[in-house]
Amino acid sequence: MSLSRLAEKLITKAHDGNDLSRKEIVELLSLPAKYSSDLFAAADKVRKEQVGDEIFLRGIIEFSNYCERNCLYCGLRKSNSKLSRYRMVEDEIIATAQEVKKSRVPTVVLQSGEDSFYDTETVCRLIERICTETDLIITLSLGERSYDDFKAFQQAGANRYLLKHETADKDIYHYLRPGCKWEDRLQCLRWLKELGFETGTGNMVGLPGQTLETLANDLLVMKLLNADMLGIGPFIAHPGTPLAGIDNDDLDQVLRVIAAARLITRNTNIPATTALATLHPQGRLQALQAGANVVMPDFTPDIYKNRYDIYPGRKDVGSAQDIINKLEIDFQSIGRFINYSAGYRQTKYH
Ligand code: 5AD
Ligand code: SF4
Repeated sequence: MSLSRLAEKLITKAHDGNDLSRKEIVELLSLPAKYSSDLFAAADKVRKEQVGDEIFLRGIIEFSNYCERNCLYCGLRKSNSKLSRYRMVEDEIIATAQEVKKSRVPTVVLQSGEDSFYDTETVCRLIERICTETDLIITLSLGERSYDDFKAFQQAGANRYLLKHETADKDIYHYLRPGCKWEDRLQCLRWLKELGFETGTGNMVGLPGQTLETLANDLLVMKLLNADMLGIGPFIAHPGTPLAGIDNDDLDQVLRVIAAARLITRNTNIPATTALATLHPQGRLQALQAGANVVMPDFTPDIYKNRYDIYPGRKDVGSAQDIINKLEIDFQSIGRFINYSAGYRQTKYH
């Protein structure tokens, strides 16, 4: 079969909602760059049919950059002694949540490194206060916790949880996350789904050792877990980590994984990640035209923002309201607009 015939066959099959085998996903991702625009157009169409033209916002608060883990790729890793660490106190976090509310963003994402300083009781108190003082929808992104913790967080009022599986290749996972087990990560994700959290997972694209088979497996993990939200972003090397100097500027590859994710998972919420905006000035808008439908503006107070240094060159520094105003103009330029409602996973559009 000619390449253009294969491209058309695969893209049409995925567009129509048929399951793709692992081999077919690999073939889809390995199509030469000249077919990318067809793939993005198909994903954009499915995005429109399934979740509409609206872009949903989530306000992030990165409340602690302490982390007990030592992931080889991440600037927050415990061994990065150059990083100036901070922890926001409860009242500061609540005041920031009020800012999110003031911007009409309906949901807040509380994100941190794996920091047991914020124990079960502290996190629950925070959730309860945000519920009563702001009535924002609460998403947590605190890393791996016990089943009992997840349950307590949910009872306190949290609705959503983000925990990227990072990579479906167990060997790469174990190499990049010393002391962590891939199975434990998956167990956490299954617990979250079982407890009824809207659950987000996702991966990094461009990790050393990763192949197209790995990326196909990433997409199958997302599908098999029935994850509700998918965070797909480029790996960006941080100079203060063991992976310093590993180049990754393949924006097209990240966009292809996003497009494939939209085609395979249909009605999920897929953010155009900040990491994409960091890789390329148009990265975010391109993602929004290749399947993505969510943007997550960063509300972390400016005094801390630069210190949440996961990878270098993070964009979007400045007041959150300024960022949203700029985003609104960008969205209009591609015929899209912000929807200020909670943006639950849509089982059916309209
Ligand atoms: N490049 C891109 N994303 C990264 N993350 C951590 N380090 C990097 C990096 N160097 C992402 C991971 C993790 C979250 C904390 O940030 O996917 O889930
Ligand atoms: Fe910590 Fe997460 Fe960074 Fe790993 S990826 S070092 S767990 S913040």
